[in-house]
Amino acid sequence: MGDAVLKTELLTKKYRGRVAVDRLSLEVRRGDIYGFLGQNGAGKSTTIRMALGLVRPSSGRVTLLGHDTGKHARRALARTGAMVEAPAFYENFSGWQNLRALAAMSGGASRERVASMLELVGLADRAHDPVRVYSHGMRQRLGIAQALLPPPEFVVLDEPTDGLDPQGIREVRHLIRRMRDELGLTVMLSSHLLHEVEQLCDRVAIIDRGRLLYEGGVEELTRGGKTFKLRVDRADEALGLLSDVTQF
Ligand SMILES: Nc1ncnc2c1ncn2[C@@H]1O[C@H](COP(=O)(O)OP(=O)(O)OP(=O)(O)O)[C@@H](O)[C@H]1O
Ligand SMILES: [Mg+2]
Repeated sequence: MGDAVLKTELLTKKYRGRVAVDRLSLEVRRGDIYGFLGQNGAGKSTTIRMALGLVRPSSGRVTLLGHDTGKHARRALARTGAMVEAPAFYENFSGWQNLRALAAMSGGASRERVASMLELVGLADRAHDPVRVYSHGMRQRLGIAQALLPPPEFVVLDEPTDGLDPQGIREVRHLIRRMRDELGLTVMLSSHLLHEVEQLCDRVAIIDRGRLLYEGGVEELTRGGKTFKLRVDRADEALGLLSDVTQF
């Protein structure tokens, strides 16, 4: 299977007959910063949960770090770090205590490891404050530190910049680049913002209502030459928005 870190084949999830993810085949390759793009409700979190063995697929297959997660997920999951939707913490514990407690549930992490991950995400000076006083951006960064604890080779971040201000977004993007360039990790992140994925990712999958619309290089996507069919509710408004960003 070459250098695929995550491969999904015809992955499908139905909730009470309603299809959330529809025969989705993706391939995240080693060294990628892989963008997973789709609007609210497109099926990003559901796909990520299936990839991580948190939700059982209705059909299809997931291969994570060479292991079929339907059969033996444990070994692959031990080498995978994840932050799915807004991370949950013990509010009265400090960032430091949260990481120690969360690590204890999955094999533990040394004091040095916890300290260096807090340092990496820029929380070293606030490590001993209770999480209840953390800002949204600090919580997101603590979530990323947690994802990095195992230590992983593959990190999956579900909307890591969601709800952050421009400065917070820049910090998280910078951190993601460092994860790949300095720590040698493969990163998959979901987003509903095309320009975010364009700036950060090498490869991208776009999904809509659970189905794959595009998978490939970001350059090919933005270079043009391809046509895209968009379905919108308010056509005039959409045309106005498009004319602002493209040259017709
Ligand atoms: N546990 C569940 N039970 C029933 N339906 C679900 C469940 N989880 C997700 N869904 C449905 O599956 C579809 C995809 O949801 P999902 O959370 O994967 O989308 P998303 O792309 O992550 O959206 P967002 O950008 O809002 O996070 C939605 O229609 C949602 O209502
Ligand atoms: Mg989601």
